[in-house]
Amino acid sequence: MRDQVDKRDTSAPPVHGIVEDADGVTDVVLAAMNGASNPRLREVMASFVRHLHAFAREAQLTEAEYDLAVDFLNRIGQATHESHNEGILFADAVGFSTLVCLLNNGRNGATETASALLGPFWRDNSPPTANGGSIVRSSTPGPALFVTCRVTGPDGAPLAGVEVDVWQASPAGMYENQDPEQAGMNLRGRFVTDEEGRFWFRSVKPAGYPVPTDGPVGDLLRAQSRHPYRPAHLHVLGHKPGYKTLITQVFVDDDAYLESDVVFGVTRHLIGDYRRRDDGSRPAPDVEAPWYTLDYTFVMEPGEAKRPVPPIK
Ligand code: BEZ
Ligand code: FE
Repeated sequence: MRDQVDKRDTSAPPVHGIVEDADGVTDVVLAAMNGASNPRLREVMASFVRHLHAFAREAQLTEAEYDLAVDFLNRIGQATHESHNEGILFADAVGFSTLVCLLNNGRNGATETASALLGPFWRDNSPPTANGGSIVRSSTPGPALFVTCRVTGPDGAPLAGVEVDVWQASPAGMYENQDPEQAGMNLRGRFVTDEEGRFWFRSVKPAGYPVPTDGPVGDLLRAQSRHPYRPAHLHVLGHKPGYKTLITQVFVDDDAYLESDVVFGVTRHLIGDYRRRDDGSRPAPDVEAPWYTLDYTFVMEPGEAKRPVPPIK
């Protein structure tokens, strides 16, 4: 082995210096990483190391806390499998996912954005559904909801031909792929906007739900005396070539958890007007009062249309 190494590499190894003390370690590490040929990797890793070291200094991190943090990271990896991503859940629970979303949308954070977290439950094969159809595919008790939406460009002009996926939890707070009581693809659909940029459908009022708490993120939430709930919402993904794929959620305005979303996904712009109707009118013969309407307009920004990779199998 020694012979092989000697034969392959006769040049002097790179020099990044010797660590003299706690103050000096950061510069030595930065020097060691400075040779990365990818300039973006160089920039991002240098910033990461500067901030990580500053964090340890500011918090005066103890060795026991360091051990705990490494164990926490390892447990995130161990808890992740093809139907659960604990890494994303951790990023969500510390507001990191929302920060990255807001930095990258709304003209890179300059303006309000219609974007929000994708979440783990999107599936890429929602059933194509005609406008006016229902996404209730098996008996789902709960108040009826009639959704009417428009999609426009930044100038307010309607966008026709946008492919729009919608998905939501049931009034019991479960997505169909978590709940054996619901038919496959219940409360999911794929619509196409008409010439006026509209799509519309019937559903049931969604309910909020807890994020999984049986892994390290659950331990963190308990240690911080935080509840695990998300406020009720409707997920929407809009896709049209020439426009940045819109990934968003529209929150139910009377939800008790609106101001304490465990994953910090609620922005003012995304609170919908879920209007309660119990005035005696009936939008369909089988609808009992109270029922709800939601009218919402989505704005798509010019950009690259990319379908996300479904977060779980
Ligand atoms: C969701 O909205 O589906 C979601 C987002 C983040 C974590 C868990 C669920
Ligand atoms: Fe959700």
